[in-house]
Amino acid sequence: MAVLPEVHVLSDDVSAWASDAAALILSLQRRAVEDNGRFLVALSGGRTPERLYQRLASNSSTTRHEWRNTRFFFGDERCVPPDHPDSNYRLAEQALFKPLHIAADHIHRMKGEHPDPEVAARDYEGLLRTSTNAGSSGWPQLDLVLLGLGNDGHTASLFPGTDALRETRRCVSVGHAPVNPRLRLTLTLGVINQATVVLFLASGDSKAGIIKRILEPSQDAGRQLPAALVRPERGRVIWLLDRLAAAKLTGRYTESRQKPT
Ligand code: 6PG
Repeated sequence: MAVLPEVHVLSDDVSAWASDAAALILSLQRRAVEDNGRFLVALSGGRTPERLYQRLASNSSTTRHEWRNTRFFFGDERCVPPDHPDSNYRLAEQALFKPLHIAADHIHRMKGEHPDPEVAARDYEGLLRTSTNAGSSGWPQLDLVLLGLGNDGHTASLFPGTDALRETRRCVSVGHAPVNPRLRLTLTLGVINQATVVLFLASGDSKAGIIKRILEPSQDAGRQLPAALVRPERGRVIWLLDRLAAAKLTGRYTESRQKPT
């Protein structure tokens, strides 16, 4: 039985929202390092996490030393070169890795530039298995998977009605987006649902409608949207929303004002 999502409506000030999100991630990082000696995190794509990355990079309490036990992976990547404006790696490199001087061997990017995305997906699956000691058959277990949410209910690059969403054996698949860049690499639900913590980040009024459909589905269709299929078997699902993104939710979620840890 999957656990219920923890929904936190933090603040309508996006800066405070980013601070609370950064504090949660640092708390999860410290707990993972205490428990396992390392923190394996898959970063999300899109623009939403940029402020969070900038806050993590500017947070005075985190230094290069704090991040020495962290290994950065990606939840998805567009099939573009790493210096392309649409590259999820490029955003993280500029907003997080460079400011924190993260060592190159602590960063595992998906090779979006590979001429054959299927080969790039298989290569990344091999890296994930090796990095998490998952062996050849188990599901890799990450400590934290950061996810965004698209207005069609997609998350990572798992888009409605696509093969990647239906993939049940592989850890990494080729995603097909309805907008450019259409070809993507993405973790599959199998890996995402093995994570210790999945953290959805959404802010702004443009997300209010889809968040309502995901968290308070009024009909079965909402339950089949990609983001609604993120239901870790043992892990936590945390939604960090600002007030605008949570505007259409009923009171039961918006009461949780306490900061998540
Ligand atoms: C991507 C992301 C995608 C993103 C959502 C939200 O590569 O685009 O993985 O799932 O998180 O589309 O994007 P925004 O944060 O830009 O709204």
